[in-house]
Amino acid sequence: IITKTTQTITNFINKSKEKETKEEIPKDKPKKEETEQEKKLKQLENIDKTLNYFKYDYIDRYISYKEKNKNLRIDEIIMHVNIGLDNEYYTNTQEASKLNEYNILVNKYNFLKDTYVPENLENVNLQYARKDMKLVNYAKDAYEKMAQAAKKEGYHLIITSAYRSYNYQEQLYNGYVKLDGQDNADTYSARAGFSEHQTGLAVDLYNGKTSYTKFEETKEFTWMKENAHKYGFILRYPKDKEYITGYTYESWHYRYVGEEIANYIKENNITYEEYYIKFIENKN
Ligand code: DAL
Ligand code: ZN
Repeated sequence: IITKTTQTITNFINKSKEKETKEEIPKDKPKKEETEQEKKLKQLENIDKTLNYFKYDYIDRYISYKEKNKNLRIDEIIMHVNIGLDNEYYTNTQEASKLNEYNILVNKYNFLKDTYVPENLENVNLQYARKDMKLVNYAKDAYEKMAQAAKKEGYHLIITSAYRSYNYQEQLYNGYVKLDGQDNADTYSARAGFSEHQTGLAVDLYNGKTSYTKFEETKEFTWMKENAHKYGFILRYPKDKEYITGYTYESWHYRYVGEEIANYIKENNITYEEYYIKFIENKN
């Protein structure tokens, strides 16, 4: 399959050649630069030509990441670098784009300002929440629909945490740091501005009885595993994906991303980070 990337690579090389012949530029200088570029591309020879998220700007990062991770496939190298994993967590950060959109990505590289409060926050029906909990209206509607369906089948989904302000996240995180030390806290709690809870699209669930940290052991977890995607929710920090998400496994934390994305993620067993790089970033 000749894909966009292959074409771009071919165009890129052809264009350089065109320039050489058409314009009367001093031969040495531009030619030298192009050869350099071609050389770099060669170092990534086995590029999966179907990758439309390959970025020329990142060539040097790909190369040096490849040096340090010789066991990784080239598509993994490109994915990891695009996510930002060649930099330490909380370095090389940027403000999240897609503010107030259902497909926003917030993680250890993409943050929300302290002033960011999502639009259209609404309280969740208290039948399905431990106390007053807010979500963005469409996520709230989807959650209530899901909790209602679960209830009909005899399962109790109760929110124990939903929207959290920047300041509240700061208090939470600082509390964990005091209790557990920063290194430990960073494995399970987001720093202020870096929590998905600030988007108003994330929920922590329990069954109303067992602690949320043991949600995995409940029948409600099994129900969520089979049904959450139908309502547009994903398990956001899965087992064995800690390296990509930046957090240890959380059986209780779900993120609203809409049904289409949730279906794809479940079917392909990928993280939201990977989905975002593949299908959202750099696409209008
Ligand atoms: N526990 C999740 C990662 C948070 O603090 O947002
Ligand atoms: Zn959570």
